[in-house]
Formats: sequence, structure tokens, C-alpha cells
Amino acid sequence: MTGVLFRTWEAPAATREWPDVATVADHVGVEHLVVTRHALVRQVLADQQTYRPDNALDAMTPVPVAALRILTRHGFRLPPTLANNGHPSHPAIRAIVAEALHPRRVEEQRAWLTAVVRERVGRLAADLDQGRPVDLYAELAADLPLLVLARLVALPDADAAVVKEFTRAALELFWAPVALDRQLALAEIVGRFHAVLREFAKDGPGMVADLRAHAESPDIVVGALFFLLVAGQETTSQFLTLLLHRLAGEPAVLDGLRAGTVAVDDVVEEGLRLVPPIVTWRRVTSRDTVLGGTPVARGTSVVLWLAQAGRDASVVPDPDEFRPGQRGSRRHLAFGAGAHRCVGAQLSRMEASVVVAETARLLAGAEVVRPPWCPDNLSFRMPDAFVVRRRAVRRCQEASSAQTRQSSSTP
Ligand code: HEM
Repeated sequence: MTGVLFRTWEAPAATREWPDVATVADHVGVEHLVVTRHALVRQVLADQQTYRPDNALDAMTPVPVAALRILTRHGFRLPPTLANNGHPSHPAIRAIVAEALHPRRVEEQRAWLTAVVRERVGRLAADLDQGRPVDLYAELAADLPLLVLARLVALPDADAAVVKEFTRAALELFWAPVALDRQLALAEIVGRFHAVLREFAKDGPGMVADLRAHAESPDIVVGALFFLLVAGQETTSQFLTLLLHRLAGEPAVLDGLRAGTVAVDDVVEEGLRLVPPIVTWRRVTSRDTVLGGTPVARGTSVVLWLAQAGRDASVVPDPDEFRPGQRGSRRHLAFGAGAHRCVGAQLSRMEASVVVAETARLLAGAEVVRPPWCPDNLSFRMPDAFVVRRRAVRRCQEASSAQTRQSSSTP
């Protein structure tokens, strides 16, 4: 089972036969209790006293002194703020962030986002018409969530490419099995941008100013910004890519979307259930306990297999089928649950619904050239590309009708 831990999305259907909880050692020999069933994952998420969030951002590969030195040189500190904060300070910090991401403010971005996506999809369709393959990750999904986030929350003035490099480096440094050389390189990238965030946190406006007014230490403001940038855009661009890829293989759903017989929101929920960008999330036990009949010692790392919980046959009748609107489809745990449930859920849903609605037609005429590939990671899918081209049969038809047009216009 060890190999599966960092590539859970490739786990075969046989994992259904896994026990409800299973102890798995990682690449450095640390044991984790993997929780596979929906009811047990929920139980853990609901009990913040026994299952604390403190280890949410702990590095899976211990950070060696040399890399710590690099981080320290940049002034890197990550105190408990949001996802890893089980302390009484959490609700107030969360409330400030939640206000910035209020569903009303999110909804105000819909028209703007629709225009941006429509324009991009139009350009991509033109490229496809010209016979050019297009990368729906790089050219559509990668930076969209960052653009939207920047309209809701004041962020440091940095190129999208720089932010993406930083956030992807953070996901690798903390959640992947990494070799020493790579850790040093990642620490440099993460540390450098952390310093940018620290500068911005000193006098940035909006949500940052609200956090500054409330927080006892500037590190709290930086920590919140850090997590928001990682969680608030990388996850959604991953999700958009994975969902578009899944939809490309679901012609009946695409037909239904175009005909208006399948609801966009149902497609988004089924996507969150089947291809969540965060496949697992961690907690740590604060005392000896029992979970699903298994004794669990204090201090155990508990890995909640969110993606597998979404495929629990006790919750959905057709766990592996993409059936928008099927019973139980919305009961996935892609956003977690309880006190730390994702505050960006509404935002990512809005973004996904716009993208699905605007790309259904384009996807229906496309075929996959290169599916997304994701590197080893405990929690995050990090698709690298998703390339499509105009479907072959369509291309043949177009080629032959172009030929007909040409020969009929030839004197
Ligand atoms: C499809 C996209 C997303 C998924 C699947 C996702 C998933 C998650 C998960 C699993 C958690 C941990 C929940 C728990 O511990 O119970 C979380 C927490 C969080 N997410 Fe998201 N997220 C997404 C998008 C976003 C966006 C767009 C934002 C903000 C712009 C965001 C901000 C946060 C924050 C701030 C937390 C920490 C909440 C707290 O500890 O109180 N997420 N998310």
C-alpha cells in the first residue's frame, strides 16, 4: 500500500476492499492511518478535539537543516492560522477571510469571469479549427482562479507565473516525497515569495488590513495570505483541468449540457465527487481513541481519503459513474467538513460552473491528445497539461468539405 499513498488517484477499484482504516508507512517510514469510508472521514472531521488540524501543513519529507537555513534566511515562518489552526484564534481569522470570500462578493464576479472565459474559449476554438492542438490547462485553467482571487482579495503585485511557481513549489515541498537537491531549490522559491508576502502584509489593503487590525502578530497575516494563495487558486485550476478532462470522456453529459437537460451545477458536484483536486487531508490525534473499531494512539497522523469517501457505495448508487444529479452526488467531502470546511467552496463552484458552461461545446468536438499527468503528492493533484485537438472524424469531414468547396469553385 505504501506506493499508493502518493498516487491515490491511480488506486485501482480493488481499494474498495481496503479496510475502513489502514495503517500505511510513507517513504521515510512514518506510519499514517488512512481512513477510507465516508462515515468515518466525516466522523473525524466533525471531532476537532480528538482529531486536530495541527499537522495540516507539516512537510511529508522532513525538511533538512540546509533547507531550513534557506527558509530562515528569507524569514519564513508558518504559525497556526487557518487550515493548521486548532486554537481559539481560528474562528476570528476565518471570519475575516470568509467575509472577503462571501457568496455575494463571489457572485458579483460571475459576469466578468464569463466574459473572460468566453473570450478565451473563442480563441481556443479558432485554434482548434485551424488544426492546432490546445492545452486547456495552460491556456484556460491555470491562471483563471488567480485572476478572480485578485479581484476579491488585494494581493501583492506579482506576475501570475511567479505566483504559480511559488504555490506549486509549496505543494511539492510540504506534500510530496522530495529529494534533498529538490528541497533546497523549493525552499529557495517558497522562501523568496514568503518574503514578498511579508512585505505586502505590512501595509496591504482590504482583507490584509482587516487581518492586521485583528492579529497579534504580523506572522498571522502572512500565514493567512500564504495559505489563501496556495489553497485559493492552485486547487481550483487543478480542479478545472481534471473536470474538463473527465468531461471530454463523457459525451452523453456534454450532449446534455448543450441541450440543457443536464444542469451545470450538478456536473460541478459530480466532478468534485469523482475528481477532487485535494485527494486526502490530514489530522492528528490529541489522545488515544478508537476509530471504526481500531484503537488509535495519541499523536497518530490520520490521512482522510476524501476522494475515496466520494466513491463510497453507501452514499452513491453508482460510485464510479459520472451521473450528474444522482442521489448522494452532493454528499462528497471534497471541501472537508466541520470547523475547517473550505471557505472558498462557493468561489470554486462558481468558477467551475462558468468554465463548464462555456466549454461544453468546445469539448464535445475535441479529442484528447495528452491527458493530465500528476506528480507524486499526498494531497494535491497537480496536472501539468491537458492537450486536445479537433476530433478526427470532424477534421476529415471538414477537410473533405473544404476540398469540395475548392473543386466546385475551380473554373
Ligand atoms: C475545488 C477547489 C477547492 C477544494 C477541493 C478545496 C478543498 C479544501 C479542503 C479539503 C480543505 C480542508 C477542510 C478541512 O480541514 O475540513 C480546505 C480548506 C480551506 N480552503 Fe479550500 N478548496 C478549494 C478551493 C478553495 C478556494 C478557491 C479558496 C479561497 C479562495 C479556498 C480556501 C480555503 C481555506 C482558507 C481553507 C482553510 C479553512 C479553515 O481552516 O478554516 N479553497 N479547502
